[in-house]
Amino acid sequence: MPLPFKHFISTKQLTRSAADAILTKAAEMEKVIAKGGDDRLKGKILAALFYEPSTRTRLSFETAMCRLGGDVISAEGIQFSSMYKGETIEDTMMIVGQYADIIAMRHPEAGSADRAASASPVPFINAGDGPGQHPTQAMLDLYTIKKECGKLDGIKIAMVGDLRYGRTVHSLSFLLGLYDKVHFTLISPKELTMPPKVTDFYKEHKITFTETDDIAAGLDCDVLYMTRVQQERFTDPAEYERLKLKYILTADMLKGRKTTVMHPLPRVGEIATDVDALPNAAYFRQARNGVPVRMALLDMLLG
Ligand code: NCD
Repeated sequence: MPLPFKHFISTKQLTRSAADAILTKAAEMEKVIAKGGDDRLKGKILAALFYEPSTRTRLSFETAMCRLGGDVISAEGIQFSSMYKGETIEDTMMIVGQYADIIAMRHPEAGSADRAASASPVPFINAGDGPGQHPTQAMLDLYTIKKECGKLDGIKIAMVGDLRYGRTVHSLSFLLGLYDKVHFTLISPKELTMPPKVTDFYKEHKITFTETDDIAAGLDCDVLYMTRVQQERFTDPAEYERLKLKYILTADMLKGRKTTVMHPLPRVGEIATDVDALPNAAYFRQARNGVPVRMALLDMLLG
């Protein structure tokens, strides 16, 4: 099934049936991976433009394209690109869209993905636009929750850390909002609370949520979604230093609990390494799920 849109910019574009179709396709892709891949995207080229640091997103996009028989061309770091010389995002898309069949871009400015998509002659995927959205991460998070918890309706999820600048929690909120009776526990210092664009969405859609600065409120949820304080979004380094390790999850805090622990990664101290050995530590499996989910998205957008 092709997706009902050409460009994937935001999880707000998804309906429940489109999200479910991506999950189904991703499960099929696990089987394709198990047999070493296939060549359904042979002859297709993905342009991976990463103007902000990335390891998982970029490598899993590239792996996904390779597993389906396609090729990848790439550019990284604005300082090495024509954008540094003053080229607009729109012009860059017009050019790259003549080389590649699909473009994935990460860029430091919120809203850059909308601008890029509006100019791109080929399907465009937002791989993170500053503190805006990260829709493919949200899809792999959704896939992980379904696999780990066996359900999406009725999920109780606690989101912990930098809810202000963390784009993954914004995108995942809009996405989980498509399912029934999901409850959000939002845990952050008061300086890093969830922005109104998300809390207004919860209210509009009658989604229940509670806000607190106490991590204890999240320990008995189905999912504890930890995040890194987004150092690159702070103008005051002292403020970052003060807030960076307000929450540190340890194995001791999870003793006797089944809470599925997730994190988009990289972690920078907010999950102690002694959590890794717990069966409910799902963040490395979550990272792995990026490949089948991105294979599904590439296949559906190019199909
Ligand atoms: C996240 C991102 O880039 O927004 N990482 C990722 O894509 N796996 C989270 C983060 O950088 O903290």
